[in-house]
Amino acid sequence: MSPPSPASPHAPTVLVTGAAKRLGREIALALAGAGWRVAVHYRDSLEDATKTVADCAHLTPGATAFRCDLGDETAVRQLLPTVVEALGEVDAVVNSASTFEHDTTASFSFAAMEKHMRSNAGAAILLAQALHAHIARRSPPAPASGAAINAAVVNLLDQKLWNQNPDFLSYTLSKAALEAANTMLALSLSPLLRVVGVAPGLTLTSHLLSDAKFAALHTLSPLGRSSTAQDVAATVLFALQNRSITGTTLLVDGGQHLMRFERDFSLM
Ligand SMILES: NC(=O)c1ccc[n+]([C@@H]2O[C@H](COP(=O)([O-])OP(=O)(O)OC[C@H]3O[C@@H](n4cnc5c(N)ncnc54)[C@H](OP(=O)(O)O)[C@@H]3O)[C@@H](O)[C@H]2O)c1
Repeated sequence: MSPPSPASPHAPTVLVTGAAKRLGREIALALAGAGWRVAVHYRDSLEDATKTVADCAHLTPGATAFRCDLGDETAVRQLLPTVVEALGEVDAVVNSASTFEHDTTASFSFAAMEKHMRSNAGAAILLAQALHAHIARRSPPAPASGAAINAAVVNLLDQKLWNQNPDFLSYTLSKAALEAANTMLALSLSPLLRVVGVAPGLTLTSHLLSDAKFAALHTLSPLGRSSTAQDVAATVLFALQNRSITGTTLLVDGGQHLMRFERDFSLM
């Protein structure tokens, strides 16, 4: 954990989106375990979010749940100010929440594209914008450099951007947009904010895969194993701690992006 800056005597505070369950929960727990106070974002999973909050608060006090539909621009613009109002200060955002619905070139529609773009790219950009405004307000005026500050945004991407197949077209487009934004935001929000992508490989199963099928697919990588949730969470923590990384993406996938798959894992 980076020590809090003099301007923030509290435990460093991070908003993790989609943190009620699955990867977002693992990330929230890893950060809480490293001394971060966690704002646990959720949309529908209140019960799971309440459990994540309790488990995080056990590790670092102050964890709190915040509900927001990331497809709703007005609601997204309110999210970070609401967290700041409740917790005082925020040092980082991890954009893990994601819409993941199947479409292909044949079934593509503006509606599907817009749904994915809003929650997966647009919301992440608005939260980065809001964090930058918050850090700028609390920092000394016109800092010559961000050296005293270690504020950051981490965007969850996907190895499939480097290893494309025709499945999940709108999802992939939204992640490609976020990957491009990762670079542009790193340039425009420096020196106050770092922006880092973390791209998992096949990490968690879905309702489309049996356990046996998932286990078999997980071995399909040059290293013979894709990523675990703990690998991904540890990389997010590293990205938040390391003061020199910005505008790049860390692929955590056992090298799956070096291979070629004809279909999405969930449809293989
Ligand atoms: N799992 C993997 O193997 C894998 C592989 C590669 C990349 N990734 C990336 O890693 C991240 C986490 O993956 P995951 O599998 O844990 O994600 P997930 O289970 O598909 O989704 C995480 C959460 O996103 C939230 N969400 C979806 N749409 C939302 C919206 N419009 N507004 C607010 N919240 C919304 C949901 O929260 P509620 O339940 O509260 O509604 C959901 O629980 C994603 O960005 C994903 O693209 C994952």
